Amino acid sequence: MAAAPSVDRHYASPGIAERILAALRAANGAAAPVNPETLAPIDHFHGRGVVATEELVVLLDPQPGERILDIGSGIGGPARWIAAKRGCHVTGVDLTAEFCDAARALNAATGMADRVTIIDGSALDLPVPDASFDRAYSQNVVMNIADKTRCYREAFRVLRPGGVLAMSNICAGEGGEIYFPVPWAATPTTSFLATPEETRADLAEAGFEIVSFRDTSDGLLPAIIRDRERVERDGLPPLGIHLIMGERIREMRINSARNAEDGRVRSIEALVRKPG
Ligand SMILES: C[S@@+](CC[C@H](N)C(=O)[O-])C[C@H]1O[C@@H](n2cnc3c(N)ncnc32)[C@H](O)[C@@H]1O
Repeated sequence: MAAAPSVDRHYASPGIAERILAALRAANGAAAPVNPETLAPIDHFHGRGVVATEELVVLLDPQPGERILDIGSGIGGPARWIAAKRGCHVTGVDLTAEFCDAARALNAATGMADRVTIIDGSALDLPVPDASFDRAYSQNVVMNIADKTRCYREAFRVLRPGGVLAMSNICAGEGGEIYFPVPWAATPTTSFLATPEETRADLAEAGFEIVSFRDTSDGLLPAIIRDRERVERDGLPPLGIHLIMGERIREMRINSARNAEDGRVRSIEALVRKPG
């Protein structure tokens, strides 16, 4: 019997960091710097890329010297961005071994290996001690997780009292079942969208106080429609998420725009606190 498609196999491919570094050299020249800015068009695997990461940074407000956790850190772009901009240490945990390998290689290539640590592991069983982080964040990860309460309880466990979690992700809209494939899943087997209301309730059930909870769909829709128009008109750019996901990202992007236009998805941004 064929194995059920798994979340990490959806994302995985060999040689991700090598492809990215080769594309960066081809686009910017052999001696071009490798840093969070030059990697930004490739490094942030979520709608609106580094712009969305920067908005999350403002919400999270990490302070110099703090210990920050990235839950579902991908190839480490947001972690490097935050460590570089805010002078803190970021630990990333991710399920996809090939993404963790790429993140470590890019940490080394940017000279940031001492400021960003990557651990292979699951958000459902975080391989870090209780109360070991000041702040945590997660971007576009929980869409792959069925047991969201367990995921939020794990985040709660590893934060110190008074610590905060900032989250941004895609939620279910009222428009019906989504079109596949989308960037986080090829089929419904590994896609688990909660509504904004369910997300808020799950976070509260895990013990968090809700500091802020915002529907960001109105900002997302124009951005992903522009993105689809650009891809349809110009094709894929030299530097982009296709270096991670391959050409299939084109169809995934088109479906993301259709899902948003039809109200099949919404996007949210939340800040929640572990009571102090
Ligand atoms: C769309 S990517 C986002 C990556 C990163 N957060 C970013 O915004 O650049 C989703 C990531 O979630 C990770 N992921 C999915 N389920 C996970 C789980 N249960 N535990 C840890 N990571 C998970 C995937 O491996 C993938 O790296």
